[in-house]
Amino acid sequence: MKNREQKKANGKRAHVRIMLWSLLLIAVGAMVAPLGGYLFVEIAEAQSFEQTNPRSETTWRDVRVGNEGITTVRGDETGVLIQNGGENWRQLRNGIVAAIMPWVMGIALVGISLVYFIGGKHKLDEKPSGRVVPRWKLWERVLHWSTATMFILLSITGLSLLFGRAVMIPLLGPEGFAAYAGVAMMTHNYVGPFFTACVALMALAWTWHNIPNRTDLAWFKAGGGFLKGKHPSAGRMNGGEKVWFWFIVLVGGAVCVSGVVMNFPIWGQTREMMQQANLVHAVAAILWIGLFFGHAYIGTLGTEGAIDGMKTGYVSVEWAKQHHDLWYEEVKDQEIDASEIGLESGVAVRQDRPASTG
Ligand code: HEM
Repeated sequence: MKNREQKKANGKRAHVRIMLWSLLLIAVGAMVAPLGGYLFVEIAEAQSFEQTNPRSETTWRDVRVGNEGITTVRGDETGVLIQNGGENWRQLRNGIVAAIMPWVMGIALVGISLVYFIGGKHKLDEKPSGRVVPRWKLWERVLHWSTATMFILLSITGLSLLFGRAVMIPLLGPEGFAAYAGVAMMTHNYVGPFFTACVALMALAWTWHNIPNRTDLAWFKAGGGFLKGKHPSAGRMNGGEKVWFWFIVLVGGAVCVSGVVMNFPIWGQTREMMQQANLVHAVAAILWIGLFFGHAYIGTLGTEGAIDGMKTGYVSVEWAKQHHDLWYEEVKDQEIDASEIGLESGVAVRQDRPASTG
């Protein structure tokens, strides 16, 4: 009997123990189980760190580094959605390239001022007698002035496109600038090829009288007569004019070739080639504009009588002897009186001016 009661009491205690343990298990389980969520997130994050998201690998990353994809559009590079070099090009163009322009202009203006203030104007030593010699044929003058006109047009429109956003939007407003930029771009793109053809003709036509020789060395040693006042000997072209000519052929050639590369994208030019052509074009054009200021100054205000040759085709014998003595010896048998060819005015025939002393 006692045994039976003892067994019953033991069974009851075991039952209570089981209940208590079960309750404890439920309580602990209820608290711990939600933490599993955090574990899941931790594992998922660890996994995503190790493996790259397959979508970003195949799409955005590939696109961003300029890899080629698949497209039905036919053409060069059509499969490349983003070309990385574009951003580098933009930074170079709007940064270093744009920044050299004020320097080139500054150096050109300082150079011209030095020549003007130290050397003075190159006036004629002798009073013009009215006798003239032929210097430039009609076709040469037409070629020169058409090239010069187009050069000025291209310089204005080209600089407007390079600096327009910064300089002209504040003046014209966005709509005004957009309208002007459209016209400037069309003008630049259509005039460019004709200008290139003229530069090529100039190069072909005038190479023969721009071959460097020893006389040019002596001319440079004497500072071209600009600083010392004494006129060094020169043939048909002097050393300075030859420098201008070869600058046009080489640097101007780079401007024209890079312009053609950009203007006619029909030979499989890649975007990278276009960006490089654009940078070469802008830098070389800025240098050309800088030297052009020097040429225009020397051809007009700087040298009395020089413009007559390009205007009328004839120069006074006094100018020829003073600036191109060796060439004058070659052409002196063609000397004529200015009135014979209807030249009534201009330095070549002006009789009423006192001759300069320097
Ligand atoms: C509108 C401004 C310009 C003026 C006032 C001007 C003036 C002159 C003058 C007076 C001459 C004759 C020099 C002489 O007889 O010895 C000349 C020659 C020349 N000019 Fe111009 N010019 C101008 C623009 C240009 C431009 C824009 C270019 C080229 C893109 C150019 C290229 C030449 C060349 C290649 C020569 C012959 C020089 C040589 O063969 O060495 N000129 N210029």
